[in-house]
Amino acid sequence: MTKVKRPDHIKFGVEELMELVGLFNISADGRKAIRGVLDREPSAPNAFLFRYYNEHSRVVELEKAFAAHMKCRYALGVNSGTSALIAAMVAAGVGPGTEVIVPGYTFFASASAVVVAKGIPVIVEIDESLTLDPAAVERAITPRTKAIVVVHMAGYPARMDALREIADRHNVYLIEDVAQAAGGTYKGRRLGTWGHLGCFSFDAYKVMATGEGGMITTEDEWLYTRAQSYHDTAACWRPDRYGRERKPGELFCGENYRMSEMSGAIGLAQLRRLDGINKGTLRAYNQFRKETVLPAGVRWVEPADPEGLCGYAAALIFDSFELARKAITANIGVGGLAGGGARGARDWHVYWYWEHVLEQKTATQEGCPFKCPHVKKAPEYSPDMCPRTKDIMMRVALVGLSPADTPEYVSQMAAEFTANLAKAIA
Ligand SMILES: Cc1ncc(COP(=O)(O)O)c(C=O)c1O
Repeated sequence: MTKVKRPDHIKFGVEELMELVGLFNISADGRKAIRGVLDREPSAPNAFLFRYYNEHSRVVELEKAFAAHMKCRYALGVNSGTSALIAAMVAAGVGPGTEVIVPGYTFFASASAVVVAKGIPVIVEIDESLTLDPAAVERAITPRTKAIVVVHMAGYPARMDALREIADRHNVYLIEDVAQAAGGTYKGRRLGTWGHLGCFSFDAYKVMATGEGGMITTEDEWLYTRAQSYHDTAACWRPDRYGRERKPGELFCGENYRMSEMSGAIGLAQLRRLDGINKGTLRAYNQFRKETVLPAGVRWVEPADPEGLCGYAAALIFDSFELARKAITANIGVGGLAGGGARGARDWHVYWYWEHVLEQKTATQEGCPFKCPHVKKAPEYSPDMCPRTKDIMMRVALVGLSPADTPEYVSQMAAEFTANLAKAIA
């Protein structure tokens, strides 16, 4: 009988895939990177589509490059920002009976990750920096608090020195949700490295997009080990995959949140563009702010650190909800920052639409974690529990900017915007 030779190369239909990828905003470098994973290349003779048992893993390469870029010790690639948050919660010990502070303005995933990790989200006020109000955080801390989730929304950095000081004084973990601010800084230090854990999203809408993907950053080996155990329960790699645990809390059942090699490859290309993108948007932002004249009744949202801002969104705060609504509905390039705010549409970015949390909805009738016997104080939620956040978000709107906006284009945009806004809210 003739022996059939085992094929040594699977055909992936690279051309079709490239066409598909072209639908998304992937750089030429990103496409080349994907091709590099699919095609055998001399530099990576054993490349294959799994991060482990792979000397040439793009995910591992991305983790190293990301850690070096952000200046932190550990980076762990995962398959989404949501997975990054859940694994970070688990790593930090969030579980039954623990509370986690989350801001009332963030994408809902920051709060749902707490529930998935079996903790209780405690929704807290933001201030006019659009991020957590440190004084409100201080007031919300109880003996049950395990962590604070700070979110750098729309590229606006939070006041990380104050928040880290509070976290350290109360001996709780600070988890940064950097999904909307990759590459941003606060006082010269990268966002995602001020907290005990940083969580990034690389979904298709983000500054650094790989389609789907995410990253966890930390300085702490134990937090890294626990996040790694949770992110790949099949492997629990630690240093020794099949070894017994070195101390309690190292080995437990988890999920499969592994990052794919394709995301790793695209991520490497996107990471090289990250600082350039942020530099471009910040240039456009500064020019737009300088050349736009705001009428009475509206002012700029002042970032906690103007140099660390990503700059793809110029946020405005109106004196009243009525003025914000007039500007947003005039179709002059102002969007509702929380679409739900002045536009009145439902929006998972503002807490008063988080029915899943406010009404303590759960996948099964037992109602855990909200009704878990470990919960010593039953949570109380209401759509009006953070009046300041609601008031701010009903008056905030944004103008989107792109690194591709040339100085000429920004000048024209600023002139038109100045005229249109004055007319819209007159
Ligand atoms: C602030 C924030 N956190 C978390 C996430 C979740 O990220 P992913 O879509 O990668 O799960 C998002 C995504 O929109 C986000 O904006």
